[in-house]
Amino acid sequence: MAFPLLSLLFFSLLSLQFHFSTAQNVVKSVYWFPDSGLEASAIDSTLFTHLFCAFADLNSNTNQVVVSSSNNAPFSQFTKTVQLKNPSAKTLLSIGGGNAIKADYASMASRPGSRKSFIDSSIKLARSYGFHGLDLDWEYPQSASEMTNLGLLLNEWRAAVATEAQTTGKPPLLLTAAFYYAPSINGLNYPIQPIAKSLDWINLMAYDFYDPTWAKVTHSHAALYDPAGQVSGSYGVEAWITAGVGPKKLVLGMPFYGYAWRLVDANNHGLLAPVSGPAGSGSGAMTYGQIRAFISQNRATEVYNATIVSNYCSAGTTWIGFDGTQSVATKVSYAKQKGLLGYFAWHVAADNNWELSNQAKQAWGA
Ligand SMILES: *[C@@H]1O[C@H](CO)[C@@H](O)[C@H](O)[C@H]1NC(C)=O
Repeated sequence: MAFPLLSLLFFSLLSLQFHFSTAQNVVKSVYWFPDSGLEASAIDSTLFTHLFCAFADLNSNTNQVVVSSSNNAPFSQFTKTVQLKNPSAKTLLSIGGGNAIKADYASMASRPGSRKSFIDSSIKLARSYGFHGLDLDWEYPQSASEMTNLGLLLNEWRAAVATEAQTTGKPPLLLTAAFYYAPSINGLNYPIQPIAKSLDWINLMAYDFYDPTWAKVTHSHAALYDPAGQVSGSYGVEAWITAGVGPKKLVLGMPFYGYAWRLVDANNHGLLAPVSGPAGSGSGAMTYGQIRAFISQNRATEVYNATIVSNYCSAGTTWIGFDGTQSVATKVSYAKQKGLLGYFAWHVAADNNWELSNQAKQAWGA
């Protein structure tokens, strides 16, 4: 009798340990989207613990979460594909995004029935495609009542995810959201209590602080520090912690892209130099890969400013602010030293031969 009892105890302890080891102790993560120019099969998933697949959409008629019905393969195959190289990689289906219609999210979140449609369909979709979690990217709630409704949605989502896990015996889906870099946006406060209680973590979008379509002088769009004010990643992190979301629920966002500005005077090419708008077409956004190509083709002068933690480069009247290897290493070290859960980057296809992804992983260490 003693032996089976002992072995039972042993196996119980073992399974307890396995149970705890499924808790996330670090998040080294990146977003991917299907038409980014990189196939999911080409992602070096060994560099990450978690991968976000973006974006599923909200059907405004049914309030259900859907992916493009004409081509759902990038979503339905994502987990299987990235786990070929890294079987322990976790995947999350990200819903919404910067181009989604915010009014649809506000409407869905405003009624119990439509919240339930959203929640139930999201869980069903995540399970049928084999995702380990769900990520909400609603940019952004626009009134105090929308913030309140976001809180209701998160609490009901968490309850539904817990119930589903109990019913099926599967580990619960992870539940995350991508939020503004600070806990208050345009004077509106995020619903701190539901966020802290119901989400596994939040992704802080600590980038896009400035862009050349409106700012009149050159800026880093993703500085870690802002000696002159509150426009920085470190400000956002501190503010979320002060507001009541613990560091272990915070994941610091970094851009694998920069913005190209047109200098008014090629000889005035530092930070805060006058500009006339974006260089090139559109918003001036450039991937890190394109920036590296620009630097080598134009023999651009590259600068790393350790005071704000940002790289920039210029050639002629083109000025580009971006996160290079030094910025990424410093931000990741900051996140670790602050006791944050980890980091994420937008987006994996913008990297240059895994340079930034590798740098981030190395900077965090084991
Ligand atoms: C770095 O940025 C800070 C803040 O904008 C500025 O005061 C400083 O002069 C910059 N340093 C260099 C070397 O450009």
